[in-house]
Amino acid sequence: MYRSPTMYGAYFNNKFTNALLYYAFLLPLLLFSPFLLIWELITTVQSWFGSTENMSGKVVLITGASSGLGELMAYEYAKRGACLVIVAIKEPESRLEQVADKARELGSPDVLFLFADVSKVDESRMFVDETIRRFGRLDHLVCNAGIGSLYSIKTDVTKFAPVMDINFWGSVYPTHFAIPHLMRTGGKIVVNASSAGVLNPPKGGFYNASKAALISFYESLRFEVSPAVTITILTLGFIETNLITAKYLSNAAGVPLRKDISSVLPTMGAEACAIAIVDGVSKGATSITEPRFMKALYLIKFLFPELHRFYLSMYFPSKSRKN
Ligand SMILES: NC(=O)c1ccc[n+]([C@@H]2O[C@H](COP(=O)([O-])OP(=O)(O)OC[C@H]3O[C@@H](n4cnc5c(N)ncnc54)[C@H](OP(=O)(O)O)[C@@H]3O)[C@@H](O)[C@H]2O)c1
Repeated sequence: MYRSPTMYGAYFNNKFTNALLYYAFLLPLLLFSPFLLIWELITTVQSWFGSTENMSGKVVLITGASSGLGELMAYEYAKRGACLVIVAIKEPESRLEQVADKARELGSPDVLFLFADVSKVDESRMFVDETIRRFGRLDHLVCNAGIGSLYSIKTDVTKFAPVMDINFWGSVYPTHFAIPHLMRTGGKIVVNASSAGVLNPPKGGFYNASKAALISFYESLRFEVSPAVTITILTLGFIETNLITAKYLSNAAGVPLRKDISSVLPTMGAEACAIAIVDGVSKGATSITEPRFMKALYLIKFLFPELHRFYLSMYFPSKSRKN
């Protein structure tokens, strides 16, 4: 029988000492939690007064900017004087051109809008190349494009490939082509993951998985690109956009919804959320969670997973789903 040659092996192979070591790490964490809370408060107050990047004349590329958070982030960057490249997929009925017009009105010196599918590697290369051709530089890449879906074991499993393709690969491809340009400008990557990737709500299925994959990929990527490039991972709760409406989710692959999520669960306004994101990114945040109370849920999930599963099973929108 194989025996671990290390001294730790002896602890981990024994049921009792294996558990004891876990509690030996957990206990100080709980004892120090009041100090961690104070530290959290200090860093929050610091972030309110920290220096903000001047976005005037900088170049920001946003995917999925024809509606929702992408559109509102484009307006927020426009107000700060950034040049924009905005990307979405649905030509010809897309609102992308109107978004470009409004961004110019709000103060953006120049806006380029492009139709492309982020899940296609050549199209991702194309819009990054077009950005450099037009502006000669790239300062922020905002990987925001994404689709929602609810999964049930009764659904045809093959219908969910686009969720992974768009939500995961649709961020990774543009990131891959943008990194050399961001390295030159000391730029930033913003990736719109989700609290779903941390909290794993029921029926989230492939949506949760795609967002968890994003968090994992970009957490690891930061070690490779820092300090030249800063990565901001967004783990948002429910934000009032199309994506959480019964109409949207009933047309998407998977389980339909009877009620809008905003009618059964706490949600945050999309404009307030977009402002908080651009503000946080401009101040150099490496992760942003909005609404902020979601962070408490992350702690509960990691410390007390059974409690987390209990309230999810009690509360999550089982009241509003059809099957
Ligand atoms: N709303 C929430 O509660 C919430 C919470 C956490 C995270 N998020 C994330 O936030 C991001 C934005 O979502 P949203 O809530 O603002 O929803 P939304 O209004 O539906 O926006 C999605 C955007 O992505 C674009 N898009 C979809 N597939 C694309 C593709 N293959 N190629 C290029 N663009 C594509 C859409 O363009 P077309 O209009 O051309 O299809 C649209 O502009 C998503 O990644 C979502 O997962 C949302």
